[in-house]
Amino acid sequence: MNIKKTLIAASIGLALAATAYGAAHSPISARQAAMKAVGGQMRTLGGMAQGKVAYDDFAVISALEIMRDAAASARPLFPAGTEMGEETRAKPEIWADGSDFDTRMGQLLASLDAAIAAEPADLASYRPLFGAIAGSCKGCHEKYRAPEN
Ligand code: HEC
Repeated sequence: MNIKKTLIAASIGLALAATAYGAAHSPISARQAAMKAVGGQMRTLGGMAQGKVAYDDFAVISALEIMRDAAASARPLFPAGTEMGEETRAKPEIWADGSDFDTRMGQLLASLDAAIAAEPADLASYRPLFGAIAGSCKGCHEKYRAPEN
């Protein structure tokens, strides 16, 4: 294992520890914690896509790996019966629309896997990959996440 891979493995371990902590609580607070971890990586990923931060392929891959693990742990945390309570912003349409919500989670994971596999070496190759990921967040939130009160 080279240093890069070791560092990535270490950061994934930390992300998993964080989501395992969340899993000890209810599905609602656990999925909110997992989603927060997903969102936390947007600072790095979005800042680079916008050219605000110098492109760093190592930082991108690390952030993508953490985001993918956090998104994968959020996916099963929307069981029926968790429509209400604990100030959830999950809309009831998630459970009314059949499998569309889960399909969208799958698409997010697929776009993350694709970006990781592509190992984008520069900003030009990274931008469209990031665009697909960000579009996935936006599309699902518009349909299935209530505004903050
Ligand atoms: C398939 C649907 C879906 C996708 C895709 C998705 N989200 Fe979410 N997200 C939700 C739902 C639903 C909630 C509200 C969960 C709740 O309150 O129970 C949420 C909540 C959040 C939150 C608030 C967490 C908190 O503190 O309560 C953040 C931040 C977030 N998402 C970021 C992201 C980012 C960034 C992406 C894309 C990389 C993304 N999400 C992709 C459905 C999705």
